[in-house]
Amino acid sequence: MIKLDLLARYLAFFNTALQHRPSPEQPFTRIYIDAFAGTGECDINMGDGLRSTIAGSAKIALDTAPAFDRLHLIDFNPKHVAELRGLVASPGDIDRVSIYHQDANEALNEIIQKTQWRSTRGVLFLDPYGMTVRWDTLQKVAATKALDVWYLFPLSAVYRQAAIDFNKVDEGKAAALDSVLGTTEWRTAFYSDSQQESFLDDGKSSARRTAGPAEITSFVHARLCEIFKGWVSAPILLPERGGPPMFALFFAVSNPAEPAVKLSKKAADHLFDMLKNQRIGKTSSGVALPSQGDFF
Ligand SMILES: C[S@@+](CC[C@H](N)C(=O)[O-])C[C@H]1O[C@@H](n2cnc3c(N)ncnc32)[C@H](O)[C@@H]1O
Repeated sequence: MIKLDLLARYLAFFNTALQHRPSPEQPFTRIYIDAFAGTGECDINMGDGLRSTIAGSAKIALDTAPAFDRLHLIDFNPKHVAELRGLVASPGDIDRVSIYHQDANEALNEIIQKTQWRSTRGVLFLDPYGMTVRWDTLQKVAATKALDVWYLFPLSAVYRQAAIDFNKVDEGKAAALDSVLGTTEWRTAFYSDSQQESFLDDGKSSARRTAGPAEITSFVHARLCEIFKGWVSAPILLPERGGPPMFALFFAVSNPAEPAVKLSKKAADHLFDMLKNQRIGKTSSGVALPSQGDFF
C-alpha cells in the first residue's frame, strides 16, 4: 500500500539520519505522532474479492528501527483506542507511547504545547477519512519548525462538499471547506460564472465549479507552501488507477533550516523516484521493509 510503504521507509530513514544529530552526545529526541492511528492493523483489498491484513501506521512506527524515543497515537474511536492499547503491552513501549482517545485537532494542540521543540524532531502522519484536519491545526504544526508531515489530503471529500452548482454548497459545507483549506478564497478559485451577471433573477448564484482534481490539488499545494517554510512536495494522487483520485498525498517540511530541508527532501525525492520506478507500491500485498541501503 503506497502510503504505508512510503511512511515505513521514511520513518526508518528519519531515525537513522537523526540518530547522532545534532551531536552524538546529545541527539534530538525523536518523536512520531499518528493523528489518525487506527488499530495498528490495516485491512486491504488484494483484488478478486480477496482481503489481507497488514501492519497499519501505528504498528509500523512502533516497530521502526532505530526506534523512536516517543510515540503519540491518537484516535477518536474507542474500539481503535482499545486495540492500540493492546499493541503497546511491553514495558519498553508503555514508557515511550502515549495514547489519546481524542479528536486529532485537540490532541495535536496538546502535544504541540507540551513538547520542547528546540530539542525534538519528529514525523507526523495525517491519515484522516475526511476533512477533519483544521487549517489552524496545520498552522500550529508548521510553527513547530520541527515536524516533517505526511498528509493524505481528502480530495474526494472536497469534491463532495464543493458541489458543482454553487447554490448547493450550504453553510455547513462552506464552513467545512473554509476549515480544511484555511481560507474563503476557494469560492472564487473553484467557481466561475458563465453568465454576465453572477446572480440569476431569483437571487441565486450562477456560479459552477470549474476546478477539478488537478486545480484543487494545486490550490492545496499552494496553501501548504504558505505555512510550511521548509518544503512541500508535489502531490501523489491516490489511487493511481481506476477512477478519479480520492486523496492527494503531500510531504511537508516545517523546518526552514537549509540542512534539514536538504536531508528530508533528498529522502522524499528518493522515495518518489522509487515509486515512479515501481519499486514501491508495486503490489498492495504489504509493506516492504526498508533497508539502510535505500538511502545511504
Ligand atoms: C484511515 S483510518 C487510519 C488508518 C491508519 N493510519 C492505518 O494505517 O491503519 C482513520 C482513523 O481516524 C479515526 N478518526 C476519525 N475521525 C477522527 C478524529 N476527529 N480524530 C481522531 N481520529 C479520528 C478513525 O477512527 C480511524 O481509525
